[in-house]
Amino acid sequence: IPVSREMIAELTSPPNVPTPVGRRKAKKLIVNMEILEEEGELTDGVKYVYWTFGGSVPGSFIRTRVGDEVEFTLSNHPDNKLPHNIDLHAVTGPGGGAESSFVAPGHEKTFSFKTLNPGLYVYHCATAPVGMHIANGMYGLILVEPEGGLPQVDKEYYIMQGDFYTKGKNGERGLQPFDMQKAVDENADYVVFNGSVGALTGDNAITAKVGETVRLYVGNGGPNLVSSFHVIGEIFDKVHVEGGDLINENVQTTLIPAGGAAIVEFKVDVPGTFILVDHSIFRAFNKGALGMLKVEGEEQKKIYSGEIREGIYLPEGPGIQNMPTTNEIVESEIPAKSFEEQMEFGKQIYMQNCFACHQSEGQGIPNAFPPLAKSDYLNADVDRAIGVVVNGLSGEITVNGNKYNSVMTKQMISSDDVANVLTYVYNSWGNSKKVVTKKMVDDVKK
Ligand code: HEM
Ligand code: CU
Repeated sequence: IPVSREMIAELTSPPNVPTPVGRRKAKKLIVNMEILEEEGELTDGVKYVYWTFGGSVPGSFIRTRVGDEVEFTLSNHPDNKLPHNIDLHAVTGPGGGAESSFVAPGHEKTFSFKTLNPGLYVYHCATAPVGMHIANGMYGLILVEPEGGLPQVDKEYYIMQGDFYTKGKNGERGLQPFDMQKAVDENADYVVFNGSVGALTGDNAITAKVGETVRLYVGNGGPNLVSSFHVIGEIFDKVHVEGGDLINENVQTTLIPAGGAAIVEFKVDVPGTFILVDHSIFRAFNKGALGMLKVEGEEQKKIYSGEIREGIYLPEGPGIQNMPTTNEIVESEIPAKSFEEQMEFGKQIYMQNCFACHQSEGQGIPNAFPPLAKSDYLNADVDRAIGVVVNGLSGEITVNGNKYNSVMTKQMISSDDVANVLTYVYNSWGNSKKVVTKKMVDDVKK
């Protein structure tokens, strides 16, 4: 199909979706998305610094049709602290775009792709630590409609589940930092729809009228948990299983994988409040995965009759036990036997754990990540460098005359791996050629 014209994509924040593509021809579609790191409210009195695509969790909904040539520009707001990128599952290409979109604060990156497969797809940030970027809210949905568009319905909404991990337990007030250990353990404090507890309840509930057909675009950002998506008091007439072409009918609960999606459709036949849940039910009533669809209209007594008592299904709040966090780090199976092996293993660790921020040649990113190449800070004090990797680092430091005031999370790697990666760093890019041993690392840990 020849691309006739270009158009700027309409982007919407949840629970809204852009206008259907209808019968329009494939086009060059220009998507401009900005990353914003900003504080929001996870639940009453609990603040959280979200990292977002377009200022919302989930990020802006993107609506395309098959055959569109998408020109995607990702910009990273200058006030942000970290570099980010985007991997769209609708992209056929390296990293789903992630390899072309890595962008430092104050910069932008453009890449292009053609939508080859119709369906509902997740997008997410893929910058290391990947799980942390996703856990902080960096996910959303992109819909690729088939030729001619999806069948028309009366109401469409955008819902996405995510799990959150906070230093304090569920309900603990104040600004809550992300907890890496709980995330690794998959021990979520909050499981929510649309980024916060209550994003779809009370005045925020989605609505419909009796007799209307409703289509929900439901995604799951994870990072960890699989959703058993269910609407209490409704049966899905149709489910586009996993967001693809396969349509299942008359479904009670549909599985939505982490990093996956589903389109569910149903006609609302009777009035009332219908509760959206992850049917892993403690998540719904105790961790936040509960939304509401309010349906207004005439009672249909042939379909349902009975005395209605409101408030049967309401959130029950926290009361979650504070699980003791383990701090176990898996030791590497085979310790390096020589300097050459330390360099080899160390490079692997570097490429997995450090490279996203400090870059492939240790050059860092101006104003965001200090260089490790010829770093005076690194070379001055080996125990301090070990401490940085083992404990993380925050606050102002000066490296080669430039000031950095950011956060490096502690690296969850074994003493052997710390020794290997630092040996690799010290013996690369003009550094002072120190050899770091496991014993030196263990001494710093004491
Ligand atoms: C600082 C090493 C992973 C972000 C540092 C420093 C070292 C270091 C030695 C001290 C400053 C310097 O010498 O330039 C490493 C190693 C890593 C690793 C060996 C992997 C095992 C990461 C990752 C990130 C990161 C993944 C980003 C998510 C930072 C930042 C600082 C820093 C922001 C400055 C912190 C501040 O301003 O207080 N790193 N790093 N590092 N690193 Fe890393
Ligand atoms: Cu990110």
